Amino acid sequence: MTITDIDFGQLYRNQMTQAGGKEKPPSAWDAKAAKTPKTSIDSPYSQAFIDRTDLSGCDSLLDMGCGTGTIGLALAPQMKQVTGVDYSAGMLRAFQENAHALNLSNTRTIQRAWEDNWDDIPQCDLVIASRSTAVMDMADALQKLDRTARKRVCLTNLAGGSFIDRGMLQAMGRDVLPKPDYIFILNILYQMGRHPRLDYIEAKGRLAGTANIDDFVTKAELSLGPLTTQEKERLSDWYHSDLERAHRGGEGFRWAFISWDTSQHPR
Ligand SMILES: C[S@@+](CC[C@H](N)C(=O)[O-])C[C@H]1O[C@@H](n2cnc3c(N)ncnc32)[C@H](O)[C@@H]1O
Repeated sequence: MTITDIDFGQLYRNQMTQAGGKEKPPSAWDAKAAKTPKTSIDSPYSQAFIDRTDLSGCDSLLDMGCGTGTIGLALAPQMKQVTGVDYSAGMLRAFQENAHALNLSNTRTIQRAWEDNWDDIPQCDLVIASRSTAVMDMADALQKLDRTARKRVCLTNLAGGSFIDRGMLQAMGRDVLPKPDYIFILNILYQMGRHPRLDYIEAKGRLAGTANIDDFVTKAELSLGPLTTQEKERLSDWYHSDLERAHRGGEGFRWAFISWDTSQHPR
């Protein structure tokens, strides 16, 4: 067997299904749009993404899964045209409101899902997908990004497959199969004949900054769904056994930042 015999797209789909991945309806994101603070455009994460994004030779940008515009709107002053694409009408509304508040006149939006047909999506010099690549079919998503970018693609994808400290989940007695992560993307791109570059962006644990165990359980349930009484007891033991670790929310996680050039024909 050689590496060319491995279908990384199929492996990704298998692991996503086994790990319980599901397509979320746009309504799940509409609700979040209203709660996303307008200031998120200045976050350490967005700055880290922008610092790693090579804009050279790029006049137009397409932001897939643009959300409220964290990255696309921050880059708009350096572009002639920015297109925000998302399947959530609520997110696109927030994107437009934020563009207006920033006095930007070079942005537009398209309502579209990863899973839809992209034949009429216009090509842009630079295509980005920030924190929006938790798709069921990664090979299809990467082909779409690659075809849409005239020069370059930049994306972030979770490294390690979980936002929540794995040790904490094990202490709670949850058997976690991680979602497929960035390593599949590198392999799929390799098989597409691309030469991806890789960097990382460090992030704090999702459960960081709680004041007490009750807050912690509430926050954990937002990410993990309802906890059983036994899980809550175990979580309380984990929390109180190391308060400094508990306040950090356990171990943080990393985003893999992956970029590749599309201006040359794949080898
Ligand atoms: C975590 S937010 C990221 C938003 C923004 N890119 C950022 O980094 O702040 C994920 C975004 O992807 C969008 N999204 C999720 N699944 C999608 C799908 N299947 N098709 C299109 N957009 C999707 C959501 O509506 C949401 O706006």
